[in-house]
This record gives sequence, C-alpha cells and structure tokens, in this order.
Amino acid sequence: MSRDGSFDRKALRKSLRKARISLSSEQQYSAEIAVAHQLNQSEFIHQSTTIAGYLANDGEVSLSSFITAQWQHQGPYKRHITLPVIHPVNKGHLLMLAYTPTTQMTENKYGIVEPEVACNHIHLISDHSVILMPLVGFDRQGNRLGMGGGYYDRTLSNIRNAPIRPKLVGVAHDCQEVSQLPVQSWDVPLDAIVTPSRILHFKND
Ligand SMILES: Nc1ncnc2c1ncn2[C@@H]1O[C@H](COP(=O)(O)OP(=O)(O)OP(=O)(O)O)[C@@H](O)[C@H]1O
Ligand SMILES: [Mg+2]
Repeated sequence: MSRDGSFDRKALRKSLRKARISLSSEQQYSAEIAVAHQLNQSEFIHQSTTIAGYLANDGEVSLSSFITAQWQHQGPYKRHITLPVIHPVNKGHLLMLAYTPTTQMTENKYGIVEPEVACNHIHLISDHSVILMPLVGFDRQGNRLGMGGGYYDRTLSNIRNAPIRPKLVGVAHDCQEVSQLPVQSWDVPLDAIVTPSRILHFKND
C-alpha cells in the first residue's frame, strides 16, 4: 500500500465494482424494490421536502422505484427530487437540478444521463433535506468510497460541518460492505447507509 492508501483504494474499487456489476437483473430489481421500501419506511424521508437522488450506473442500486413513489407522494408538502449534474462552471463539483417526469435529459462526458442545465431548475445543496448518493464501498463507521472523482467530497466539503445540513445517506448493495475503508481527510462521512436489508445510522456531530 502507498502512504496515502491510494493503492488500497484502487484495488478495493476494482473488486467492489466487479461485485455489483456481476449481480443478475433479478438481484438488481429486488435490491431496487427493497431499498425503496427501506427508504419509504424511514423517518428522515417522511420529514423531507427536497431529496437528491441519482440515476443508477455501473451496477449501482437503482432509485427508480423510490423516485417514482416520491413523484406520486400526497402529503402536506410537495416533495422535490433532484439529480446531480457535473457543474458547468465549478470544476469537479456537482450541481443539483430538479428532476420530474418531463425533465429534458442529456448525456454527460461519462455517458451518464443527467438533466439539462436550466438556471430555474437549480436547488442549492443547503436546501436539501436528504442527499442520497451511490457508492462503491462502505464500512460500519459510515465511511464512503466513491468512484474516485471526488465529486461528492468537493460538493459537500462546504456543508460538512454546518450546524444544519442535509442528511447524507449512502445507498448500496449489501456486497459493497468492507470491514474498514482507508479514509482520507477530504472524505465526507455519511449519516446513514441504506442497503436492501437494513439502514445503518451514524453519529457525525
Ligand atoms: N474537498 C476537496 N477539495 C479538493 N479536492 C478534493 C476534495 N475532495 C476530494 N478531492 C480530490 O478528489 C480526488 C478523488 O477523491 P476520492 O478518492 O475521495 O473520490 P471518491 O470519494 O471516491 O469520489 P466521489 O466523491 O466522486 O464519489 C482526490 O484526489 C482528492 O484530492
Ligand atoms: Mg472520497
């Protein structure tokens, strides 16, 4: 391992990505339904007004069923769903844009479908109740290993110590768990992790 743990991280990413991409379409679908169920039962979703999701890629757990349910949500407050797009100005950061059934979509430089940027569709990070994010690996301490771009870490770095901030929730298959991740100073820890079988909560304040 190199001094900063980068070799460990690279090797872990490779094996964990292989594990999730190897899941069958039946396993993927049951994970999608189970995660939607876990989220719909959770207190933090009940209290939410704006929730950031993502469109699954590379074997990540799909949030499609969950998002469709939020669009149909009937309650005292409307629920807004947003998706991350690569920030057009602030290099290496994400921008959250409203996502509805009629949102115009486009492909980004990684071939990932994302909403077309429109100024009146932007939601500030600080206006979210919950940010659901994909991950490659997690541990029981709430550490997150992403794809290696640092996008979520950069985007969340300003709010990580704010007294009031969105709840940061990782979404993963159970097979993404490792006993202990190598962590760097910039890695923003999660408040909770949702898998098809459970929700883990962490205390980060
Ligand atoms: N707050 C930050 N400011 C500047 N650079 C950062 C910041 N956070 C992360 N980076 C850079 O991003 C690179 C990738 O970070 P890391 O390996 O933690 O990605 P990741 O967490 O797997 O990716 P992602 O956040 O996109 O899911 C690192 O080389 C790191 O220097
Ligand atoms: Mg990181």
